[in-house]
Amino acid sequence: MFDQIENIKKELDAFTSDVNDEIERFRINLLGKKGKITNLFLLFRDVHPSDKKEFGKQLNNLKASAQEKITTLKSQCIKSTTKTTQDLTIPGQPLNIGSRHPITIIRDRIINIFSQIGFSVSKGPEIEDDWHNFSALNFPKEHPARDMQDTFFINKNMSLRTHTSSVQVRVMEKTKPPIRTISPGRVYRNEAISSRAHCFFHQVEGLYIDENVSFADMKQTLLYFTRAMFGENTEIRLRPSYFPFTEPSAELDVSCSICKSKGCSVCKYSGWLEIMGCGMVDPKVLDNCGLDPKRFSGYAFGMGIERIAQLIYEVNDLRLYSENDFRFLKQFTSER
Ligand code: DAH
Repeated sequence: MFDQIENIKKELDAFTSDVNDEIERFRINLLGKKGKITNLFLLFRDVHPSDKKEFGKQLNNLKASAQEKITTLKSQCIKSTTKTTQDLTIPGQPLNIGSRHPITIIRDRIINIFSQIGFSVSKGPEIEDDWHNFSALNFPKEHPARDMQDTFFINKNMSLRTHTSSVQVRVMEKTKPPIRTISPGRVYRNEAISSRAHCFFHQVEGLYIDENVSFADMKQTLLYFTRAMFGENTEIRLRPSYFPFTEPSAELDVSCSICKSKGCSVCKYSGWLEIMGCGMVDPKVLDNCGLDPKRFSGYAFGMGIERIAQLIYEVNDLRLYSENDFRFLKQFTSER
């Protein structure tokens, strides 16, 4: 029996490890429920009475030194793993700076410019009924814009809105003039995707309704907007055009800010860039929306946000705005 104590002692002296699992296995082997040292304690009652005192002493010593050695080995083990995995002096990982999307930046600039002259922001649904997207806006039944080719229909009456002009109908239906509002939002058209066209893009609609609103009021407001957007020296021109919901209708061109009107490939050597449609709200539209056309008049305008962004950032491929290519997006980190 004394031999057994001697053997375990040798085993204890010889053992070393810096691996936690190994040390734990060693502990169980000696001090666990069925461990070698634990077993010797069970044999104690079979020891000859004259040897009991000495045996007990040696066994207790053995247990104490085993416990001490195991605790020491384990604590060294904690120290060494702490050392290799956690160096508290290593500098932290820098966080990537996020950026806002160029369409968001331009949209917010447009909102900001118009809010300074009293325009509010209004919103409408992207899934729209025929009345708000077409009929109330005076689109004849056979108008090509109602064609399956241009419009994503959901059923006979519902489609994805093809323009934000639908929001002007909703605003006029539920607001009493004076109305001054802009409606930014996403619109959808059934177009093949290319660098120049997309099946969804963004517009800002504008609407001003009151008594005695004139075409001159519209022109002055849009001149203020274009100068705030493209610079103080920007000139505008209005070309006669046609929209079912405005009469008269016009298209607004700004002097080319890229070549300073000298002529470049972006303005196709004309010195002018078309940026929006506009006009006086057709009396029939006012009537459709429950406003008295004899008392009220007003103007409306609509522009594409991608178009403005293309001119400000000189990005020619429309697809870049919706592909979420990080290399493209991160160029706008410094923009607010
Ligand atoms: N809704 C037209 C479009 O999508 C843009 C537009 C033109 C809006 C003239 C207007 C407007 O309010 O008066 O092409």
